[in-house]
Amino acid sequence: MTIPADPPLPLAPPELTGLIDLHCHLLPGIDDGCQTLTQTLVTITALRLAGFQGSVCTPHVVARLYPRNVPANIQRGVQWLERELAEREVSHQLWPGGEVRIARDTIAWLEEQGVPTLGTGRAVLIDWWGSDWPPFCDQVCQYLLDHHYQPVLAHPERMGLEAPRLLSLLDDLRARGVWLQGNLNSFAGGEGPEARDLAVSLLGSGRYQALASDTHGPDSVAGRRDGLRWIRQQFGDQVVLDMLRHGPRRILHWGEQVA
Ligand SMILES: [Fe+2]
Repeated sequence: MTIPADPPLPLAPPELTGLIDLHCHLLPGIDDGCQTLTQTLVTITALRLAGFQGSVCTPHVVARLYPRNVPANIQRGVQWLERELAEREVSHQLWPGGEVRIARDTIAWLEEQGVPTLGTGRAVLIDWWGSDWPPFCDQVCQYLLDHHYQPVLAHPERMGLEAPRLLSLLDDLRARGVWLQGNLNSFAGGEGPEARDLAVSLLGSGRYQALASDTHGPDSVAGRRDGLRWIRQQFGDQVVLDMLRHGPRRILHWGEQVA
């Protein structure tokens, strides 16, 4: 695979640059995202062309599947990738994070390994794929809130619950203080019509705090760019900036002053 050279001008219009990708799988070989440094570099090049100036590295944090993905290792991985980018004079800011799959033992795991917050703030990206919402999911959210962390639920539009129940659950979670992050790929239909309809509804009703690429490698960027383009056409530039420039920054710095 060859790494394309940067064209002289970015494809993103100047007013839509400076975007921050809050959720992506760039660190190579540690989950089902990018598998090699070359894939990571190609993906970053594509994201930069789409207007992103930085990415939060959020590998899957699933003890059963990826036991080495603990905060200390993720931070080391980000520092390593920063050095690789610097050697190649690639300007793309990175922050450590993680996508914490909710499980029965999540609270015990967080207490043992530490909380993989997004950047230097206290926001935590969590995800859940079940067809219901068992009590331990609520307990994880409440644990984070009680300990002054800000839970951010990744791609709720892709969760397995049926639509009416899912909407009710999301409103309940929001009322309790959980924030929502939608996926760009959902808007281009890449996750199916149901996810697309729900994503459009959640965005249109102001229920998302941010959107993100959730990119897993070079082949997955095109759908994200289609989604970005679609949102721009349907909702306008201000929504793009709110969801991909301002919202992610707010999340990255949330709670920095909390002891
Ligand atoms: Fe993800």
